[in-house]
Amino acid sequence: MSDARTVLERCDVLARCSEEHGRITRRFATPALAEARELVDGWMREAGLHTRRDPLGNLFGRRPGGSDRALMLGSHIDTVRDAGRYDGPLGVLVAIACAERLRGMDLPFALEVAAFADEEGVRYGTGYLGSAVPAGRFDEAWLERADAGGTTLADAIRGWGGRPEEIADGRLRAEELLGYSEVHIEQGPVLDERGLPLGVVSGIAGQTRARVTFTGRAGHAGTTPMEGRRDALAAAAEWIGAVEAEARSGEAEAAAGARAPGASHGLVATVGEITAEPGAANVIPGHVTASLDVRHLDDAARERAVAAIRDHAARIAAARGLDTGWEEVQSTAAVPCAADLTEQLAAAAADAGHKAPRLASGAGHDAAMMAAITRVAMLFVRCAGGVSHHPDESVRADDVATAIDVTTRFVERLAGAQNPSR
Ligand code: GLV
Ligand code: MN
Ligand code: MN
Repeated sequence: MSDARTVLERCDVLARCSEEHGRITRRFATPALAEARELVDGWMREAGLHTRRDPLGNLFGRRPGGSDRALMLGSHIDTVRDAGRYDGPLGVLVAIACAERLRGMDLPFALEVAAFADEEGVRYGTGYLGSAVPAGRFDEAWLERADAGGTTLADAIRGWGGRPEEIADGRLRAEELLGYSEVHIEQGPVLDERGLPLGVVSGIAGQTRARVTFTGRAGHAGTTPMEGRRDALAAAAEWIGAVEAEARSGEAEAAAGARAPGASHGLVATVGEITAEPGAANVIPGHVTASLDVRHLDDAARERAVAAIRDHAARIAAARGLDTGWEEVQSTAAVPCAADLTEQLAAAAADAGHKAPRLASGAGHDAAMMAAITRVAMLFVRCAGGVSHHPDESVRADDVATAIDVTTRFVERLAGAQNPSR
């Protein structure tokens, strides 16, 4: 239990690294993230790992083994705004605790712990920026993207000591990796409802993110008659209702049996960010920018929903005499976890006396990106009430202890499978 206590204490320490007083917000390349990365670097070194940073600023800690191929364990250290303290850091800190436990033990492969610098995509709108680098999926055009304050991604990377012009060098080769495994809070209620500490992930939903605009005409709120107004926010509001209805109709389709086989995660669609300009109580909004996030375990169903949602925007804008714009910011396919690694993870849980049900993940994870170059597996840890992306996120110390135990057994099982004489 004591290393679980250490993990939880470290989650508390990282929670103090924040851009905002009184709440946890740690976006990519901010001083708060740099501070967190420095702490994690120190803990990695204490666990006997050699640390390095890639050109984006992801942190890796490695111990050598019997071959140059590495089993990578990890997660991310950035957060959403007003976050909980376990989404991301728990997986990094459990991985460090495992490395500590396995210290001194011969392994037939290297062990590498990853602390990815951006999974949430809060600052630049694209999730998985961090793991996209080793996975070879980083699009250099992203470097020109600007955050809300006008800082380009390239400048943000430089600002915290990274090397944007060398991003491509951060790519790993498939031969360098044995696999990637991530521990993460479930972020949903299933384990808590069933009274189980752990679950094994079967697959991760695909995501589309887009930036949608409505452009009408600003005007005087007191003198412009209702008839003939081109109110961009009223159009956006109508569209948001249509987005919700579309997702609900997708859910109904799933309930009627049309969901992909094995999928337990149907269609969800969210508009989470909206700005109206010029932004005054007495001015009709002339321009609106809204974010859109659509997810499904079945890529075809997600793409159908995205097309329908885009049609709704065009129809609503046309009916109101507005223009609409659509910029796709991210499109990531659903990812199945690797059957062999997942079996080993489930067997490691069974060895530790736990039945870990298979769960699909509606949340995005770095494992989804890492799957582009290696086999991936994920272990979910129960979180109270399934609450996540919220300061009330919480985990139990005994569950964290179990996650460390199961992950350590998982590494030992893989070591045994690589070296049957052990
Ligand atoms: C990350 O937590 C995501 O699923 O958006
Ligand atoms: Mn998250
Ligand atoms: Mn996460």
